[in-house]
Amino acid sequence: MTTDTNGITDFVGRVAFVTGGARGIGLGIVQALLRRGVDVAVADISSEALDQARELLAVPPVRLRCYQLDVTDRKRYAEIAARVERDLGEVTLLFNNAGVIDSVSPSKLSYTMWDYVMGINLDGVYNGIQTFVPGMLASSRRCHVVNTSSEAGLVEAGSGFLYHASKYAVVGMSESLRRELAHFGVGVSVLFPGPVATDIVQNTRSLRPEAAPNHSERVTQILETAHQVLNAQGAPPDGVGELVLDAVETNATYIATRNAVGEYLDRRSVELGAAMKHAEDFLASFDATAEQAV
Ligand code: NAI
Repeated sequence: MTTDTNGITDFVGRVAFVTGGARGIGLGIVQALLRRGVDVAVADISSEALDQARELLAVPPVRLRCYQLDVTDRKRYAEIAARVERDLGEVTLLFNNAGVIDSVSPSKLSYTMWDYVMGINLDGVYNGIQTFVPGMLASSRRCHVVNTSSEAGLVEAGSGFLYHASKYAVVGMSESLRRELAHFGVGVSVLFPGPVATDIVQNTRSLRPEAAPNHSERVTQILETAHQVLNAQGAPPDGVGELVLDAVETNATYIATRNAVGEYLDRRSVELGAAMKHAEDFLASFDATAEQAV
């Protein structure tokens, strides 16, 4: 694991912004932050979930503020950021975590679905970066950004091509940003959870746009099974929250939640290596003059 010595350990009194922070993994991150003495701005599209989180956390407003925000809404994102600065102070920790698990069958391709999945899972992450990173670059303090991807951002595992596309993109963006921001005192980590016990399947259902094509019966069944498996076997969200904060402390590049997909990654690099070797051999024996003569 790549780490450097520039992790953050002086948490007390800092301000963090967590998207999708009212439920699931985001809520786990919020709890881990509060335990370390960080003041937290929780942003979520669901007002109801925000009310429940506020009640559950039972922390005074000087330590915790909740903001209704759709991360795809850039104008409101900027307005909320300004309010957070007034309410709590300078944001030096950013968790781009809001996400949905959805895709579309290749036989029902739809711009609505592309815009919806990419809008939340990828643009939502970028919107957080554009909103807060300029302030981080100007800050006198070390800052940190954690972007939530998925194991589905590392290996193709049947989660649907739109979901995979959005999550692979978050990994690439995070790895590049980490390099580009390293010299400005801003660390970047990427979280790729395996199964975590949350209601993401059900929450996603309620967020699907009206124009989204209905899932086939087969996909509906797969999602129902996934929901049950996540809740029966998934890691606890508050444990994942602690893992995330542990990574901020060491400025780790990657945050995994289980030891599972290594063999798929090995298989992928063997296949890629073979394609590269094939290209080398193929082009070495390729005679352009002879090809053109034919
Ligand atoms: P969750 O559904 O429990 O929490 C996600 C939160 O994001 C919800 O409170 C939801 O209201 C909010 N949200 C959704 N769209 C939003 C939007 N447009 N603007 C603001 N908030 C929005 O889901 P969970 O499981 O905690 O997922 C968090 C992240 O972890 C997601 O990015 C997901 O893709 C990722 N992930 C989750 C896994 C799991 O097994 N639970 C596995 C791999 C990745």
